[in-house]
Amino acid sequence: MYTVPKLADYSPEALEKAAHELRTALEGEAAKVETEAQLKDFRNRWRARRSGVVTQITKVWLGNAPPGRKPNVGFRVNLLATEIDEEIEGCRRRVAALDQLQAYDRSQEKTKLASERLDITLPGVRRPIGVKHPVLRMMDEIVAVFKAMGYSIGKGPEVETDYYNFESLNFPPNHPARDTQDTLFIAGQERKAARDRLMLRTHTSPVQIRTMEQQPPPVRIIIPGKVHRNDPLDATHSPVFHQVEGLAVDTNITFCDLKGTLDHAMKALFGSSVKTRFYPSFFPFTEPSADMQVSCIFCGGKGCRKCKFSGWIELLGCGMVDPNVFEFVKQYGYDSSKISGFAFGMGVDRIALLKYEVEEIQLFFQGDVRFLEQFA
Ligand code: PHE
Repeated sequence: MYTVPKLADYSPEALEKAAHELRTALEGEAAKVETEAQLKDFRNRWRARRSGVVTQITKVWLGNAPPGRKPNVGFRVNLLATEIDEEIEGCRRRVAALDQLQAYDRSQEKTKLASERLDITLPGVRRPIGVKHPVLRMMDEIVAVFKAMGYSIGKGPEVETDYYNFESLNFPPNHPARDTQDTLFIAGQERKAARDRLMLRTHTSPVQIRTMEQQPPPVRIIIPGKVHRNDPLDATHSPVFHQVEGLAVDTNITFCDLKGTLDHAMKALFGSSVKTRFYPSFFPFTEPSADMQVSCIFCGGKGCRKCKFSGWIELLGCGMVDPNVFEFVKQYGYDSSKISGFAFGMGVDRIALLKYEVEEIQLFFQGDVRFLEQFA
């Protein structure tokens, strides 16, 4: 460790040499200062008033200098004192910076520990499981009513041919009845025969034909499904919607069976006080055809805004299967002189709007969780 030497002579060269040695020692010791404690020792060693190096060189070098050399030695001693102060200040800054760095590391360590900490007494993360969409729920409810009456469930494709969607249901080609179901056709099929052209099915009725092609009578089938029409969006219309279709074929099926079946179904869906009535209507594939209305489920038939003050709400189309339809499936065992049947079709979305008192059909299809959650 550096100790202040006595100067042999006070020549400028000797002074220069001594100053150089001191500076080398100073820099060497300064480089090792890293902690607050080392800094304190370092400062004391070089700057302490009683016996620090600065005090020593003042005493030993300046104090012993011959009078003629005093100004020169004094100047040199002052210069060294300044350099020593600068070195101390440099060390102070470095120690402070190192300190900050360590504090940062420690805080990192702490947050790391905090994030790794496991509190097994906290409640777990609950992932909400989905619920059935209100339209599907309504559909299942309707299907369940008919299942309980012995109906089985049928299904068919959503992309359908002209033959199943229209022709076999007694909509002849170019017949104006087709205009009642504004159809979305698949593009680029001009080269196909008219009956093979594809479209998005406009109703679930094509599955009536598909079912009869698959099984001989008797038939009791309920067909839930998605259908499409080229309807502009509004509060009660959507180009995509859902239907539940029913078909019963057997010997001796009459309009009474149709009425009794649907009346029971409506009571099961809306409550036993609900009444039904049948209004003449037209569908190419049923004869006679009817629209079925239920007594208003909001006012009980007294008349309100929902039923447009009529006391009745129109809910579905139905009728006795037209013998012309059986003609298309004659080879599968459907002889209209021996059997008869009834069919009906209802819009699920419309019934869900009524049952859940929703104002806009769009809400069902926008996928807004805040809306859908209400059905959880
Ligand atoms: N398929 C008809 C429609 O979508 C409804 C219906 C089905 C009518 C079965 C009578 C019999 O409008």
